[in-house]
Amino acid sequence: MKAQTNQTLAENGVQTAEQLAQLFSGLREEFDRAAAGVSDEASWKAFRDEWMGRKSGAIANITDNWLKKAPTAELKRACGQALNELRAHVEAVLEEKRRAAESAAETAALAREKVDLSLPGVMRPVGTRHPIRQTFDEVERIFLSLGYQVVVGPEIETPYYNFEALNIPEHHPARDNMDTFYMAPPGDGAEGGAQKIEPRLLRTHTSPMQIRTMEMRKPPVRIIVPGKVYRRDNPDATHSFIFHQVEGLAVDTDLTFCDFAGTIDYFIREFFGPGTKSRFRPSFFPFTEPSVEFDASCIFCGGSGAAAHGGNCSKCKGSGWIELFGAGMVDPAVYGYVNYDAARVSGFAFGIGIDRLTMLKYGIEDIQLFFQNDARFLRQFP
Ligand code: FA5
Repeated sequence: MKAQTNQTLAENGVQTAEQLAQLFSGLREEFDRAAAGVSDEASWKAFRDEWMGRKSGAIANITDNWLKKAPTAELKRACGQALNELRAHVEAVLEEKRRAAESAAETAALAREKVDLSLPGVMRPVGTRHPIRQTFDEVERIFLSLGYQVVVGPEIETPYYNFEALNIPEHHPARDNMDTFYMAPPGDGAEGGAQKIEPRLLRTHTSPMQIRTMEMRKPPVRIIVPGKVYRRDNPDATHSFIFHQVEGLAVDTDLTFCDFAGTIDYFIREFFGPGTKSRFRPSFFPFTEPSVEFDASCIFCGGSGAAAHGGNCSKCKGSGWIELFGAGMVDPAVYGYVNYDAARVSGFAFGIGIDRLTMLKYGIEDIQLFFQNDARFLRQFP
């Protein structure tokens, strides 16, 4: 029936006001039927254009084809009135439908975007401190409680600080088991440059910080130096080419071997537990005299050397003792490098291998586990 709006009244066969009224009421019924099917914004827009579109919407067509071309004044008047009524009806229904479509869209969006407060949140895994870090922290805590300070130093060193000032001259055999990674700085003469610059190396131990600290400070000195060190060691269960040490140095006017042994004994008991004993054996380091290796009584068999189910304890191989780290009284020759008066001061130094200490404490059998970043391993150290 809407197609009839494209034709004039005459073409629609309308001659009387009754016929006109019939035409309008048919059209309105058609409109109402179509309106019932409008549910969303898209169908509402199409429906609006169909009826209210400026160019070929039904209302515009009626104005052009029926009203303007009405054959008689009477039909024109009746047409005008009916058209006004129809337009008012169309507009009211369209508005009502617009609101309904809008609120349906809103309801759908709300349902879509609904936040379910009962859903569990996104759990972000919280990491833990690496076991090496935990040991560093524990060692630091113990020595801080004894009045030591924590200092850190460069990992790239000169041979002077790493060796010479520690009383290890160029061809000394002690350099052999501290072979490391050397870097030739630019302009070192190898490229034909005139000036020879001292090469750099990755430090093989934290001991260079003994020298650097004593150069900067007058006694008394009580420091520990946690850090990374490097050696050209082949990786195996107890060796890594990068590992960790904590250096210790105490220098004062009245430090004796008793202070030294007492400090280490205190540290071992604090770290492994009050029942742990310590002992030392003679050893050699060019920068300490006398030099010792400290052992702790085996924390696995309680120092008995016997396994719980008979036989020897596998950790200490039945000896009841576990080798811990090297240490000694500072060699007077070292004081000569830092302008300390060797006749007035004395002190002790130690170098703890943190990786092996951690392995011992937690019963870890392979040092490589520390560097593999396997979360299954790391998660065991909350
Ligand atoms: C030193 O490095 C001396 N600077 C220690 C020292 C300091 C002695 C002050 C006296 C006074 P040594 O080479 O033994 O010493 O190494 C110390 C510790 O580092 C060892 O006990 C061991 O625990 C650890 N370590 C040595 N090489 C490796 C390696 N390749 N991988 C893992 N740990 C290692």
